[in-house]
Amino acid sequence: MKKKIAVIEGDGIGPEVTRQSIRVLNAVAEAFNHDFEYTYCLMGADAIDKTGNPLPDETIEVCLDSDTILFGAIGHPKYDNDPTAKVRPEQGLLKLRKTLQLYANIRPIKTYSSLFHLSPLKNKKIEGVDFVIFRELTGGIYFGEKKINEEKTEASDNCVYTKEEIERIAHLAFHFAQKPERRKKLTLVDKANVLETSRLWRKVVQEIAPQYPDVTVDYMFVDNAAMQIILNPKQFDIILTENMFGDIISDEASVISGSLGLLPSASVGAGGLALFEPIHGSYPQAAGKDIANPTGSILSAAMMLEWLGMKDEADLVRQAVNWTLQYSFVTKDIDPVNFYFTSTIGELVSDYVSGKISGSVKRENIELRKSTII
Ligand code: IPM
Ligand code: MN
Repeated sequence: MKKKIAVIEGDGIGPEVTRQSIRVLNAVAEAFNHDFEYTYCLMGADAIDKTGNPLPDETIEVCLDSDTILFGAIGHPKYDNDPTAKVRPEQGLLKLRKTLQLYANIRPIKTYSSLFHLSPLKNKKIEGVDFVIFRELTGGIYFGEKKINEEKTEASDNCVYTKEEIERIAHLAFHFAQKPERRKKLTLVDKANVLETSRLWRKVVQEIAPQYPDVTVDYMFVDNAAMQIILNPKQFDIILTENMFGDIISDEASVISGSLGLLPSASVGAGGLALFEPIHGSYPQAAGKDIANPTGSILSAAMMLEWLGMKDEADLVRQAVNWTLQYSFVTKDIDPVNFYFTSTIGELVSDYVSGKISGSVKRENIELRKSTII
């Protein structure tokens, strides 16, 4: 199959983790006889430096002309520490999500037995955890009117949701909950005891629920959900929630897996295009050091392959990632002492995909590409 992939490396560790995904995608292309054509484009701080605009028109054009989009990360400390900055890297990503109508961000959370020891939670609590967060991505407080008064002493961010915005992602989440491999349970996370928008979410979800009689629905306030995700994460199957709550609880949930660096996501929507990105940020402290975890990005590439109809290819990539974790070929975020470099992990995963590695491996050879710091 021939596929056009727009690649937005973005900021911080974005380029180096994305590079490993491309390496893996190239191995997939070769093994399965596909032709992936990559077009690189700018977004974020990188784009501001080069063009003055966090999302140049050309990037939108390239995305619209592609079959799918692979994205790295966004953000730079020089903007984080300057609240007066008018142009900010994140505006690029938010505008891209809005322009392409990527209204649903799908974030799967699962655990790997080889990483259990890293979780601050007890093994028996996290064993078998498997849930998926459906985070609304183009509405809510992120996109409502923002104001600050002349004296810069009072500011507001408006949170707005329409019935239609809630319905479309709710249907997507319900459909997903009905999949054979799911446990047919949907939890709406909101703050309906306080927020009008949350009450609307509840009403709309209650109205829709009877169309999916095989799915059990429950409702949870976000403060309680934050606690339940740690206390009893196994209770969740599908979590449906609004933009900001989803942003927060998905970072929290990553702790269950062992590292934020492991988690992939897919942003899908109305236009038929989808964007795939790890859930982590640009992690500027690690940029350029070859220590960032490329797994979130590689697993995002796997989600992309599946979305492109390449299920076997996606499964092979996931199997390769599982293999690295099982043999403790992990980056510094996971094992601060015995860690491997970003590029080594990318190489191992792509070698596995290319069939150059079978179940057992000469560890000594890989040891040579290990960190020299330890
Ligand atoms: C994410 C990120 C973004 C968000 C930022 C970089 C704008 O944290 O994708 O989770 O808040 O959506
Ligand atoms: Mn986030």
